[in-house]
Amino acid sequence: MRVLGIESSCDETAAAVVTEQGEVLSDVVRSQVALHAPFGGVVPELASRDHMRAVLPVVQEALSRAAVSLHEIDGIAVTNRPGLMGALLVGVQVAKGLAFGADKPIVGVDHLVGHLLAAFLRGSDAPEVPSFPFIALVVSGGHTSIYRVDAPFAEGIRELGGTRDDAAGEAFDKVAKLLGLGYPGGPIVDRLAASGNPAAVDVPRPMPGAQSLEMSFSGIKTFVASHVARVGPPKQDGALADLCASFQSAVVDTLVRKTVAAARRERIGTIVVGGGVAANRGLRAALQRACAAREMHLVVPAPSRCTDNGAMIAYAGALRLARGDRDGFDLGVSTTSSLPRTTRRGGGKR
Ligand code: KG4
Ligand code: ZN
Repeated sequence: MRVLGIESSCDETAAAVVTEQGEVLSDVVRSQVALHAPFGGVVPELASRDHMRAVLPVVQEALSRAAVSLHEIDGIAVTNRPGLMGALLVGVQVAKGLAFGADKPIVGVDHLVGHLLAAFLRGSDAPEVPSFPFIALVVSGGHTSIYRVDAPFAEGIRELGGTRDDAAGEAFDKVAKLLGLGYPGGPIVDRLAASGNPAAVDVPRPMPGAQSLEMSFSGIKTFVASHVARVGPPKQDGALADLCASFQSAVVDTLVRKTVAAARRERIGTIVVGGGVAANRGLRAALQRACAAREMHLVVPAPSRCTDNGAMIAYAGALRLARGDRDGFDLGVSTTSSLPRTTRRGGGKR
């Protein structure tokens, strides 16, 4: 089965052709980063308009790189939640038009399920695929949660804990912004942190309670803001690298500690990571160390599979199509995920 996947939930217009075995026949990602960079964040209306310009050429390129015509594919998968309403609508309406015109089945895919299953995509640089059940950390600009995954469908995925406030990627982006580093901040902080001393600034670790799988990242961001207000912005490159490394290690420590605690609690030996922040070198190295020390098995997709892409959506959709799922032309969009949240924003027991 060859499935066309379309992704337009945020600031990447992406399309891919993938088989139900996870073989990636094509994977085209067109980023809007340059468009939003002057504003220091994604501007929803600009995102929708740019998706409209880009989506058909991106789909055409995905089909041509896979050397298939629209008529030769077996179905269409499209991200229909969660994300920016206007941005999602562009992908979903195009998917419906193509499905109607070529008489192909269509399924909606939850973007988070896509990130959770990116580890199953095959390619030259792909590690071995995980086996069920596994613990998954999805850590991106909009989401930070830990899941127990028993099956590759929304009903087989349960949130064990998540952030109560900012997503980890959001904290990276906001810290980079307040340090005047540009957008998106994650990759820039990652690069700077590589040459810094993570112990230079004593950034507090939020919600250290061993029992809780809930996380919080807005306090770390506020700590960095008040540190800069108190001592002034870093004047030398070394001080900037140290501050980035100290901030990053506080985020990474929290993510690793909570993910390992979840695996222990559920007595599961396999950990999978996904989402844009999973491209972070500090996080990848810390997870490798933590898993090796506990004889846990870690599966981390290639960085290009961690950030938003169409291949993960095509694959998640292929599994739905293969078991007979179909959505109608009344398929709607939503700003929220279909995966039930157990973590509420704000207070609670630590
Ligand atoms: O999954 P993604 O591409 O889009 C969302 O669904 O949000 O994630 C984007 C987020 C941004 O916050 C970006 O700064 C962060 O992932 N990110 C990183 C790195 N690469 C991307 N954060 C830390 N280190 C990186 N290398
Ligand atoms: Zn994402």
